[in-house]
Amino acid sequence: MNREVLLERPAAIFEGLPGPNEFYGQDILAVSQFNRRNLEYLFALAERMRDVVETRGGIDLLRHKVLAAIFYEPSTRTSSSFIAAMERLGGSVIPITQGVQFSSVSKGESLPDTIRTLEQYADVIVLRHPEKGSAAIAAHYAEKPVINAGDGPGEHPTQALLDLFTILEELGTIDGLTVAMVGDLRYGRTVHSLTELLLNYDVRLRFVSPEILRIPLDLMNKVRDAGYDVRETYDVHDVIEEADVLYVTRVQKERFTDLAQYEQVKDYYEITPELLKHAKERMIVMHPLPRVGEISYEVDKDPRAAYFRQVRNGLYIRMALLAAVLCPG
Ligand code: NCD
Repeated sequence: MNREVLLERPAAIFEGLPGPNEFYGQDILAVSQFNRRNLEYLFALAERMRDVVETRGGIDLLRHKVLAAIFYEPSTRTSSSFIAAMERLGGSVIPITQGVQFSSVSKGESLPDTIRTLEQYADVIVLRHPEKGSAAIAAHYAEKPVINAGDGPGEHPTQALLDLFTILEELGTIDGLTVAMVGDLRYGRTVHSLTELLLNYDVRLRFVSPEILRIPLDLMNKVRDAGYDVRETYDVHDVIEEADVLYVTRVQKERFTDLAQYEQVKDYYEITPELLKHAKERMIVMHPLPRVGEISYEVDKDPRAAYFRQVRNGLYIRMALLAAVLCPG
């Protein structure tokens, strides 16, 4: 990629990528939309975005394009990285983050009207909402592309994409790795999306959680039926020596109906330097963040702690996705 050419002609960023742009005009709702071929395309584009940001901060690819970022649940990284991504591509953002009280989406109220209103102003919609299936409902009503930024305990596809991209950037491959997911595997949507995305590769999966936070049975069956080497355990010591990726998650307090149950499991795990003494020298510790005690702060100094580099990769992946959805390529 010739950097000078990009100044004159930003769309040149798509030239020579592996394969066609399958994302143009599409909604991004679930990880089932991805396969090895289009992931390779997206990751190649994300690497170009990294180069563009590192060398000159951004590229004027989405000038005069507008993103409506609608967040009905708290967010720091996802919302700000989408805003930064849009602005570094030369576009702009309508941020909607107030704590709107709304009736159930399943009643077909409120959300469709919000979406149909905002798409009059915007070219693409990013939605985070507490109900599973809400992004698909929004996409049903919208004519403009909708990107799912988390639908309750359902999916969080853009997080899974940046997680996978991080593994690839850090370890150089995905095939052949042992990935251990630790924490709230029941409600953690990032775990659900990343697990499904990993089924495009040849990996071993280890699920580490307390009993009440085990991975949903349908997802476990899917992994088993696909023939994967998979094991569940309560104890992180069972997996620490073999893990190439330790993917740690927060217990999702907001999804519990019984807070006493939350209290029982909230401090179940803490990843410490002591534990990491048993881990491989070449492995990574990841976390979608925010952390609330699952990884001690002393771990941050360990070069294997990849979670802030993972945050940074979110910018490049979201730039690549917005560019691919809004430009024919
Ligand atoms: C995650 C989420 O919102 O699901 N955060 C994020 O997007 N980085 C994880 C979490 O909230 O625990």
